[in-house]
Amino acid sequence: MTALRKSDFPLIDVRQHLETGPIVLVTSAWKDETNIMTMGWHMMMQFSPALFGCYIWTGNHSYELIRNSQQCVINVPTVELADQVVAVGNSTGAAVDKFSAFALTAARADRVKAPLIKECYANFECQLFDANLIGEYGLFVWEVVKAHVALSVKNPKTLHYRGRGQFMVAGDTLDFHEKFRAQNL
Ligand SMILES: Cc1cc2nc3c(=O)[nH]c(=O)nc-3n(C[C@H](O)[C@H](O)[C@H](O)COP(=O)(O)O)c2cc1C
Repeated sequence: MTALRKSDFPLIDVRQHLETGPIVLVTSAWKDETNIMTMGWHMMMQFSPALFGCYIWTGNHSYELIRNSQQCVINVPTVELADQVVAVGNSTGAAVDKFSAFALTAARADRVKAPLIKECYANFECQLFDANLIGEYGLFVWEVVKAHVALSVKNPKTLHYRGRGQFMVAGDTLDFHEKFRAQNL
């Protein structure tokens, strides 16, 4: 590969290159209410127990539901759900029931009160593991306590947000498994 010429790049747009985890839909439940929000800012933090960190803005209606219940479900959509991902992330559960407004189906979870979204190929039930960074950074650290994955979806075409309304679509797999020193990495 030839050396590429680089330009000075605005720091405010760094996210376009680093925000590459799959966009997820976060479901929550508190008292009689359920809700969904779109989320891009998250990361895995540990294998076992499986820890997952994510940023939730206090201005989101989901924040209160999640803060109070200390639970959520991380639902992973594929490209077929792109319209819903955008609609969910540009509306608030304070004003609309996003399940009925955007034709998403709630299913009962096993370990938490927040619902699974049936149309998503994977759903991860989460219980709050560490609240210490919520106050300063809005960073929730979750333990995944139950995972549901449709193994029939071999190369999930997940959505990856690049800012400015643009998504990359994943789906190709390069398999270097045999060259990995630690086979579980
Ligand atoms: C592509 C995309 C990614 C987003 N990522 C996040 C995120 O990581 N954290 C967050 O707090 N809000 C994020 N949002 C914003 C919320 O999804 C949005 O504010 C939503 O309307 C909140 O819904 P609610 O008020 O019903 O909770 C994102 C929105 C979009 C469209």
